[in-house]
Amino acid sequence: MPRVNRTAVLSLLIVSSSVFLLFQLYYYRKYVSKPGPHILSRTGHLTANDVQWQTVKKFLALAQRFRLPLFLADTAALTLLSQDALRQRDRLVREPHCSFLCTGRPITSFALHANLWKYDPGLLLAAQQKGFDLLELRGEDPRLASLDTLSGEEIPLHFLFRLHGHVVQVVFLYERSGNYLWHGALRLKANMDRNFAPFKLLDYGRHPGAYDRPELVLTVLDGLDIRIPRNISRFLNEQQHAHFLECRYRDARNFLQLYPDDSSPEALDFRRKVKSLLHLAARTLARLDIPFWLSSGTCLGWFRQCSIISYSRDVDIGIFVVDFNPDMVAAFRDAGLSLKHKFGKVEDSLELSFLSDDVKLDVFFFYADGNVVWNGGTQAKSGKKFKYIFPRFSLCWAELLELKVRVPCETLDYVTANYGDTWSIPLRTWDWKTSPSNVQENGVWPPAEWAELIQVY
Ligand SMILES: *[C@@H]1O[C@H](CO)[C@@H](O)[C@H](O)[C@H]1NC(C)=O
Repeated sequence: MPRVNRTAVLSLLIVSSSVFLLFQLYYYRKYVSKPGPHILSRTGHLTANDVQWQTVKKFLALAQRFRLPLFLADTAALTLLSQDALRQRDRLVREPHCSFLCTGRPITSFALHANLWKYDPGLLLAAQQKGFDLLELRGEDPRLASLDTLSGEEIPLHFLFRLHGHVVQVVFLYERSGNYLWHGALRLKANMDRNFAPFKLLDYGRHPGAYDRPELVLTVLDGLDIRIPRNISRFLNEQQHAHFLECRYRDARNFLQLYPDDSSPEALDFRRKVKSLLHLAARTLARLDIPFWLSSGTCLGWFRQCSIISYSRDVDIGIFVVDFNPDMVAAFRDAGLSLKHKFGKVEDSLELSFLSDDVKLDVFFFYADGNVVWNGGTQAKSGKKFKYIFPRFSLCWAELLELKVRVPCETLDYVTANYGDTWSIPLRTWDWKTSPSNVQENGVWPPAEWAELIQVY
């Protein structure tokens, strides 16, 4: 090898090792020399916990600088925190200095009250300067969507901040007109890095979600100032059942072009009464902690036209019979609703009907049986029993008449079971005993029990 080349190789080696040395020095200063309780493990390496704590700490410093109205929404950390409250701060099994934030998971999630924060691109710039990799996910603003206008505007839905492999997820919570908080689904666009984060492990984003506004408290967790929900178990419970379904505005618009809505004063009056009745029912049942969902025609109205069916004349809701509470009748009475009829019994085909103004609230109780759920019907004059069978379903949140309300998540299956494949064609004549696709005759109540099982007021 010629002499000149050997010199060049030698100089290159010297330069590169100096650079590496400088890098090590920089790294040491940046991560090791800072004061803090848990910078290095005994082996001298950054452990996953150290990385998590450091990343959250850096993120929170940024968040404070840009005044992000944040709270901790991480289910693993909040679970540790709520268990800790139960165990009365028994720290034996956890690390002393990072008991809550070091969840051992590659993600820590926070929620941001988006209505209280003015979007500041400076945050993203500053985060990058601090070494964070960023992913911003946007989506359509559903607050602008309605039957009249479809939203085109995009708003930020999620931020992902990544440092040393740890990801901080920031979920944007927006106020919706039903006085609740909403977040969007996290959907990657075609050009986005699918390996940016372990997306399957995220607590938020698989579906849109709906939440009541949580009361927050400022606390110190593992040496960091963090706001958390005051009632953690309530928040975690909500998180489990937060799945939100947006109304299908596009389809509803097509429907209403074929079958324009009735805008007569009577129809508007009916809509106003249904709205106040639904809000009243929701408040009353919430106080008793009884979940309910939109059923029959009210569910069809939401699903088909994002509204109510103005000629339906009543409001239908479903409740699982296991959630029945005998105080219900008194609670509705106190709220101004009179009991109109009571059919069946808790063990079989229970159905309650209330009256407010001239609008009826039908409450159907649902019974789980193998892989189906059913509710009963009773014909007062003949004592005949009927049964309506549905495939099993879970419950999701939706919005109707500015109310956050539950509907079966598998709404299409539910509506199809009840109304058949032609559910999208309005039917003005409807017989509850013969018209539904899922009705079955179910015998007759024994005449001796009629007085008890068929009560009409
Ligand atoms: C927290 O919420 C749960 C259920 O939502 C409730 O039962 C409990 O009483 C609440 N705890 C406190 C301390 O308010």
